[in-house]
Amino acid sequence: MGPGDLKAILQHLPFIEDADVLVGLETSDDAGVVLLNDEIAIVQTVDYITPVCDDPYLYGQIAAANALSDIYAMGAKPFTALNLCNFPTLNISKETLAKILQGGLDKLKESNTKLIGGHTIKDEELKYGLAVTGLVHPKKIITNKGAKIGDYIIITKPIGTGVSLEAYKKGNVSYEDFNKILTIMSQLNKTASELMIKYNAHACTDITGFGLAGHASNIANQSNTTLKFYASKIPVYPISLELFKKGHKTGISNILYNVYNDKCKFENGIKDYLKEVLFDPQTSGGLLICLEKNNAFKLLTELLANNIIASLCGIVIEKTEHQIIVSDQEE
Ligand code: CO
Ligand code: CO
Ligand code: CO
Repeated sequence: MGPGDLKAILQHLPFIEDADVLVGLETSDDAGVVLLNDEIAIVQTVDYITPVCDDPYLYGQIAAANALSDIYAMGAKPFTALNLCNFPTLNISKETLAKILQGGLDKLKESNTKLIGGHTIKDEELKYGLAVTGLVHPKKIITNKGAKIGDYIIITKPIGTGVSLEAYKKGNVSYEDFNKILTIMSQLNKTASELMIKYNAHACTDITGFGLAGHASNIANQSNTTLKFYASKIPVYPISLELFKKGHKTGISNILYNVYNDKCKFENGIKDYLKEVLFDPQTSGGLLICLEKNNAFKLLTELLANNIIASLCGIVIEKTEHQIIVSDQEE
């Protein structure tokens, strides 16, 4: 299924409006949010992935960081989680499966999330992830909506996990190089989320399967603005950039290109390989945060002080015929 297909399927279902559903299906947000009372809203999300590496413990960590990320992108705090295990019975040891779960559990501990259960099903292809419930004050939910003209855009974590993963599988990237990317993929967006709340983020999403183009397009669409990026400022893994230069891309990149290229305007001078940065699907990517200019500088300083790779890489402008503009000049 490609992006858009799910929307088409959901169209056939009767959609029931509910005043307590603060964030539902219609805004392409990272998680659903339901009002519990004046003080608390419940945030729910589910994400699971096929293995991204041969190290089961690291895979478990990355799957958990990836699942928790949607909670952090909403400005919420994770509270409880359930394991989702599609585990093969053949050709895999119990020890390996235990290491996957240990990786997930350690990330849950780091995020102060309580694991309270889970579900296991036999599946030929290994998959692991989590359903996560978070909490947020109903007035402090950060969504795709809310980016304001003049806001600065900060991206945390470099882009390029998709192209590197595919190249690693084909033997075009060394494990040593790929491991540097895996380490960052295993990092939680916890601190970045706490800091963006501190600096009053107007809009946020995490950059995952739909790539920078897809997730930026959601913010532009929901906020009625255009997001303008400075090509040289978008953070990209050096290894991934080299792969883009050599013409590497993932199968999903082509699908994302077909869906989102029309929504993007690449100004003259943007090299073709740099365009691929917009269409590379991410696993356990970082946050895309829109916030007021002065706060953006403070946030960037504090992110970097916390050893989080981050870059101030664009500005929110008045809505144009394109949702995304990629420029080679900084304003
Ligand atoms: Co998300
Ligand atoms: Co998700
Ligand atoms: Co069950």
